[in-house]
Amino acid sequence: MPSNSKDKNRHRSKKIDEKVGKTTIAQTADRHEYYEKAVQCVEAEIDIVDETYKAIRGKRAKLLREDFCGTGNTSCEWIRRRKTNFAVGLDLDQSVLDWGLDNNLSKLDDQQRNRIQLTNQDVLTGHGKTVDLILAMNFSYQLFKTRDQLRRYFASARDGLRQDGLFFIDAYGGYDSYKTVKEKTKYDDFTYYWHQKKYNPINGHMLCHIHFKFNDGSKMKKAFTYDWRLWTLPELRELLQEAGFTKSTVYWEGTDEQTGEGNGKYSPTEKGDDDPSWIAYVVAEK
Ligand SMILES: C[S@@+](CC[C@H](N)C(=O)[O-])C[C@H]1O[C@@H](n2cnc3c(N)ncnc32)[C@H](O)[C@@H]1O
Repeated sequence: MPSNSKDKNRHRSKKIDEKVGKTTIAQTADRHEYYEKAVQCVEAEIDIVDETYKAIRGKRAKLLREDFCGTGNTSCEWIRRRKTNFAVGLDLDQSVLDWGLDNNLSKLDDQQRNRIQLTNQDVLTGHGKTVDLILAMNFSYQLFKTRDQLRRYFASARDGLRQDGLFFIDAYGGYDSYKTVKEKTKYDDFTYYWHQKKYNPINGHMLCHIHFKFNDGSKMKKAFTYDWRLWTLPELRELLQEAGFTKSTVYWEGTDEQTGEGNGKYSPTEKGDDDPSWIAYVVAEK
């Protein structure tokens, strides 16, 4: 962790850089690139999705829909896994989809690119074709703040699934998640800040930001903002049921006995721990 005096020097040199017209890292940094580095681990995510589908259905899924796909990073990972895999990503922001086309899909070979499509579409409308898997990851569904809105989205996801399809969402919670707090994680070339700016216990609404700070001391504040509702697991499961899903299962993370931290292995259970901060997956069966 850098000392305060070092920090002051960084701050000063950033100001000098700005005065003399020198470009800071924050001025040229690409927020999507740092988001993918700091927030996503698409390999681990697809491992869980792929293995869980196989465990529940006894066969491999082929067609995946990534809701709120952003840059389509997860869909690209699905495509890389097997030649028989297809993916469609849905997002409303054309600029983010374009970034994904230029930076992620461009790294696929022609054969792989033919099996993926990113489309500017509302997740509530869905996609014409039914699929084996629908993912709504990184808690994006939390932008639906009322039970009616979220139930409507869940029902539309259910409609988008084949008869043996599965719907995956992630969820987070624990008593730390209700605090206004700025958590930082240091990477080699930048620091990632998860900033829980406001939480209203009366309606569950929450305002969060992602900020980045770079090694020259420059900052990209509010690179991403999330204005959403922090839903609890029982609420999510009740709404999945009300939306017509026949079953939902919570996959809870195991504990590394040496560190006491999460071990990245998720298993189905009806009993979690009162961890200060946890991430879980909910898998809903059509
Ligand atoms: C938190 S990002 C998720 C990025 C990516 N799924 C991930 O896992 O990191 C949320 C994305 O949802 C998109 N979005 C918001 N409302 C939407 C809607 N109704 N239909 C489709 N996309 C939507 C936004 O444009 C944004 O790119």
